[in-house]
Amino acid sequence: MTAQVREGGGGAVAGACRMALMRPASGPERDAADWPRLAETLGLPLLESALSARQETRCDVYLSQDETGPFLQVTGSRAPGPVRCGFYDPAMAYRRRGGQNELLGRAVGVHRCPGGRVIDATGGFAADAFVLADLGARVLLCEQHPMLATLLALSVDHLTHVQHDWRSDVVGRLSVHSGDSRLLPAGELQAEDVLYLDPMFPPGRRSAAGKGMALLQRLLPEHPDSAAESLLRWALRQTVRRVVVKRPLKAPQLCGIRPSHGLSGRSVRFDVYQLDGVAVHES
Ligand SMILES: C[S@@+](CC[C@H](N)C(=O)[O-])C[C@H]1O[C@@H](n2cnc3c(N)ncnc32)[C@H](O)[C@@H]1O
Repeated sequence: MTAQVREGGGGAVAGACRMALMRPASGPERDAADWPRLAETLGLPLLESALSARQETRCDVYLSQDETGPFLQVTGSRAPGPVRCGFYDPAMAYRRRGGQNELLGRAVGVHRCPGGRVIDATGGFAADAFVLADLGARVLLCEQHPMLATLLALSVDHLTHVQHDWRSDVVGRLSVHSGDSRLLPAGELQAEDVLYLDPMFPPGRRSAAGKGMALLQRLLPEHPDSAAESLLRWALRQTVRRVVVKRPLKAPQLCGIRPSHGLSGRSVRFDVYQLDGVAVHES
């Protein structure tokens, strides 16, 4: 099985986190991916699975796969459990529609454009993208961190070719682009597309969000507010239908730019910038 990751531009990701790939010791997972080729592409060491995550000292985080699917694993004596893409979260099956998911669908306007396309410019663990795909949208997931982008691609691959269940149809509407979304090829964005942004927040502001967010902050230690602002400024220059930004409920508007409207939930808010295919050119 080979994970299809669309390669794009994207610089080195800052941080002194030692990353590696861990080839599964046995079982079908050992051949689920071309591990040597992936290691070469990512420029990471390929380790053979021998020690438990808590005993492992050769790296700080590794990417591997088990019978449940691909995962990232932090190592060390206090290592938490594996971190997988959002769609492996068992709770996802119970909160497919309703609550915050419904709010996200309304903010993006999925119902207005059935089968329409969303460019998720901040892929992460693809929980939001999966919700949008579950609501019927086709989603292009852009992720700048090569290891995360590989996790996304392997996970989509796994649910497409190996683990057939209700999620397989949904991930069929997801595709993965590895690289900085701002460097998407010219012509990729269409006037009817929606650009979705869920930028990182400075450490501490999302501490309650669990081991996934803790891992993101480890992989991406440098994520100043200015990065989120530059992403929004880029997004508003695109000729798309709308730009939607996820923010903590009480956070100020990014760049101080007022959205067309907002939708608030219990802990997050979606700021909606309605462009209708007309880019905003700031003076
Ligand atoms: C808060 S997480 C997104 C979480 C995601 N919405 C989810 O549901 O799992 C932000 C992610 O955006 C990525 N990111 C930030 N800026 C980016 C850019 N310019 N291009 C691509 N990915 C970017 C980061 O690497 C990080 O993985």
